[in-house]
Amino acid sequence: MAPLNIQSTYKMNSGYEIPVLGFGVYQTPPEETEKAVLNALQVGYKHVDSAKYYRNEHECAQAIRASGLKRSDVFYTTKVPTNAMGYQQTKEAIDSSLKTANLEYADLILIHAPYGGREAREGSWRALVEAQKEGKTRSIGVSNYGVHHLDELEEYNKNIGGKIDVGQYELHPWLARPDIVEWFQKRNVVIEAYSPLVQAQKMNDPLLKKLSEKHNKTPAQVLLRWSLQKGFVPLPKSVTDKRIEENAAIFDFELSPEDMQTLSTGEYCPVCWDPTVSKD
Ligand SMILES: NC(=O)c1ccc[n+]([C@@H]2O[C@H](COP(=O)([O-])OP(=O)(O)OC[C@H]3O[C@@H](n4cnc5c(N)ncnc54)[C@H](OP(=O)(O)O)[C@@H]3O)[C@@H](O)[C@H]2O)c1
Repeated sequence: MAPLNIQSTYKMNSGYEIPVLGFGVYQTPPEETEKAVLNALQVGYKHVDSAKYYRNEHECAQAIRASGLKRSDVFYTTKVPTNAMGYQQTKEAIDSSLKTANLEYADLILIHAPYGGREAREGSWRALVEAQKEGKTRSIGVSNYGVHHLDELEEYNKNIGGKIDVGQYELHPWLARPDIVEWFQKRNVVIEAYSPLVQAQKMNDPLLKKLSEKHNKTPAQVLLRWSLQKGFVPLPKSVTDKRIEENAAIFDFELSPEDMQTLSTGEYCPVCWDPTVSKD
């Protein structure tokens, strides 16, 4: 793997670049969001992951403006909520997200989850493909789709010519999702890892502590490095100044193949929701 740094990017199917480290804002209260995102941008993050559901899109965009960075230097993601599935509802949700943020375009818009049935999913996707053509978003993707949802979408894309740029999933050593990861890697789709810190529930895990001592890095940094070395784009969330900085200091060490193996637990333990298994 070529050495990565905080400015590194991957190229998506759309032709646009996505920074290899993102900053998450799920459960960041709106009144704390502008400060946290501004802090992250000052530390060097160039990628913010929001969603309509998080109710802090406006504050994320405010921080991007306050940072003094050029709009084109910050990668901004939002997501279509589960209550806006279907063509018309998704079109409206996209416009509403851009209006709330007061942004001309998003870098990435994802369907948050595969709920609502096939017709609604296809309608939502068609609305995203149109939004991409209209320049409302540069890249498009899905989150929380199971392989059966992805196969369905691939069939649909043969009719409408859409391309998936990004898949966003809960991914960490206790939920490595080999089937989904393989599906995307075969198609050159960038994989983002949400809850990459396992929502702070595994910081005292003995495997992690051992690696943390070996590399003189914190358990959080080991988890984020695992994610980077798997080829994912991790999206750690924090409202704590010191941790925002700590979570970005992951480019100066490397886990060995044996370390990576140690963290291959083979477990399937989601800490967030898991719509990948939904059957409708
Ligand atoms: N697409 C989806 O369905 C979906 C679902 C969930 C999340 N996401 C995205 O992924 C992002 C990250 O996931 P997440 O928020 O679920 O969880 P996470 O990033 O795995 O964990 C966040 C938790 O870890 C704590 N933390 C952060 N840095 C730490 C450190 N260095 N040491 C110890 N604790 C630390 C945070 O506390 P403090 O904030 O108090 O510092 C917070 O409690 C979200 O914010 C969102 O953007 C997407």
